[in-house]
Amino acid sequence: MKLSASDFIQRKGVKPIPMLTAYTCPVARGIEEAGVPVILVGDTVGMVEMGFDSTRDVTIEHMEYHIGAVRRGAKETHIIGDLPYLTDANPEIALASARRLMAAGADSIKLEGPKLDVIEHLVANGIPVVGHTGLTPQTAESFKKVGNTSEDAQRILDEALAIQQAGAFMLVIEHVPATLGLSITQSLRIPTIGIGAGPDCDGQVLVINDAMGLGDYWPPFSKQYAHASKIILKVATEFASEVETMEFPNNILQFTGTGRR
Ligand code: KIV
Repeated sequence: MKLSASDFIQRKGVKPIPMLTAYTCPVARGIEEAGVPVILVGDTVGMVEMGFDSTRDVTIEHMEYHIGAVRRGAKETHIIGDLPYLTDANPEIALASARRLMAAGADSIKLEGPKLDVIEHLVANGIPVVGHTGLTPQTAESFKKVGNTSEDAQRILDEALAIQQAGAFMLVIEHVPATLGLSITQSLRIPTIGIGAGPDCDGQVLVINDAMGLGDYWPPFSKQYAHASKIILKVATEFASEVETMEFPNNILQFTGTGRR
């Protein structure tokens, strides 16, 4: 059953919330089958799937494409769509962008930073909003941890409270000290979802490519549950060799398959 914004608020303090990013249909299908209640189609897609150096290169069309693919794979899961860089530049632009992502299949929208007028406008127009504080990659100068000084920690805590006040139903906190993750979580009535924000958030999110070990760099706060890059190398090497030796296609093996294609 697809969870709503108010279901997530009610879950705070009751049961931790796992969240994964996804960008494609089969990955989304696997995440839904595993019972993960919420998928983020993040603008990380630009860096982990599209080969850009920054999430700033991601466009609204890219996000529509990936949200559509994820929705087709995960029909019963709450999907958060990320508003890409500058598509939330002011309340009207943000509303038009958010409507495009909702039409593509998102159930709610995430945006970075304390854009309080934007959040208020989206919520007033019926768009459920997820905030994002701490490290905000669209405008950050580096990917280093933030909130290390007491002044910066206080600024981020104040931002979190303001984002909640503006109407967000959930808050992603990225790459801050665990003590700050805890104090934000204790100060808010909406659930916090940490990524590199310590163990005390109401939920945790990982970028699926990091969790799968796909790529060649993973942030220090992620965990690799598999090493998919090695599997790709093995598959490609064996396939190339079998074509060259003319073993394939005489040796076709079908391990699984649902007969969907
Ligand atoms: O874009 C994204 O995937 C994100 C996560 C890192 C939280 O914002």
